[in-house]
Amino acid sequence: MLSGKNILVGVTGGIAAYKSATLVRLLVKKGAHVRVIMTPSSHQFITPLTLSTLSKNPVYTEFSKDSTGEWNNHVELALWADLFIIAPATANTIAKMANGVCDNLLLATYFSSKNQVVVAPAMDLDMYLHSATQTNINRLKEFGNQIIAPVNGELASGLVGEGRMEEPENIFNWIVEYFLTDKALSKKKILITAGATREQIDPVRFISNKSTGTMGIELAERAIKLGAEVVLVIGPTSLKTSKEIRRIDVVSAEEMYLAVHQNISDADIVIMSAAVSDYTPTETNSSKIKKKNTPLEIKLSPTKDILKSVGEIKTKKQILVGFALETDDEVKNAKSKLKRKNLDLIVLNSLNDSGAGFGEGTNKITIIDKDNKVFEYELKPKPEVAIDIFNKILSLL
Ligand code: CTP
Repeated sequence: MLSGKNILVGVTGGIAAYKSATLVRLLVKKGAHVRVIMTPSSHQFITPLTLSTLSKNPVYTEFSKDSTGEWNNHVELALWADLFIIAPATANTIAKMANGVCDNLLLATYFSSKNQVVVAPAMDLDMYLHSATQTNINRLKEFGNQIIAPVNGELASGLVGEGRMEEPENIFNWIVEYFLTDKALSKKKILITAGATREQIDPVRFISNKSTGTMGIELAERAIKLGAEVVLVIGPTSLKTSKEIRRIDVVSAEEMYLAVHQNISDADIVIMSAAVSDYTPTETNSSKIKKKNTPLEIKLSPTKDILKSVGEIKTKKQILVGFALETDDEVKNAKSKLKRKNLDLIVLNSLNDSGAGFGEGTNKITIIDKDNKVFEYELKPKPEVAIDIFNKILSLL
């Protein structure tokens, strides 16, 4: 099941550390290559010998091997891992991960990681609910880490509540599920639009909107993680994207239209998250418009509706996903947009939801499918919203 997968297990100093033995055993049994990094304080809860025996590999704790002075290469460990699971993760380790503190080998490996890191917190009820811990966990999510939330149950203190590490069997199932969906989009080509367009009035002025392109970039990054080939057509933004994404920078709605149509024929999935200007100045002044004491009128013409134009030519095999930003009658308007533009899914953002929309790190979405089924989601960091959107797309494949 996990044959050939390299899984790094991080163990920190909490009582749940004894459960890491079961997790390591389950992973090895299903064919994974497992290496374990322990923080120094975790040795008080479980011995390195137990974990090295079960993982069939040496266990790492210090930056160097005592006898030879040879270093334990945290960069190599991080790059080796297809997945780095930290279970249990104490409040202390979570705080350090969230704030860039790097005072042990486990943390140095975390900061060197490029692949998915998963964190399974374990601590007492009040420590878990403390605002500092919750803020740190949210930061970890924003960094793109996944959290396996602790469950309700009896805690080492005798209290009962949230904070108990998820059972190793369930963490194991989570990992199996992760690898099943991982690379689920290999050999698929995905075309994504993102950001705002700019419609030039004169050489220095333009019409645009507040979109930053963050949501579209998160979708593109997620698609890369799922193994897809990604073309991102994006309006002007200072945001960076990873080198695996083929990025086409455009300025106007017309340029976006052309770039989309040049890349549409072999796309399997098209996601249009761009906030395209609906109007453009009928004429662009070649020189800067001078100030006068009379009202200035600028005549605007409609731009091409890119999403609609793709809906008109899409084949049965292509999946088309549109976005809708609505202020009134949100679901009703989104449903009618889905039909009008011949979409498979529409992702609705409501400006009435706080924390959702332009320039926010979070988003609250509702997805509507072709059968008019409505799926509502919580307010979440945008990387997690991208996961939800792709899970819905994957369910259509
Ligand atoms: N869109 C597009 N080209 C345009 C305008 C919009 O491709 N010229 C796409 C957006 O990327 C988004 C969807 O259409 O996926 C919804 O855009 P929106 O402006 O909300 O919808 P409109 O069709 O313009 O409807 P209205 O302005 O009446 O709400």
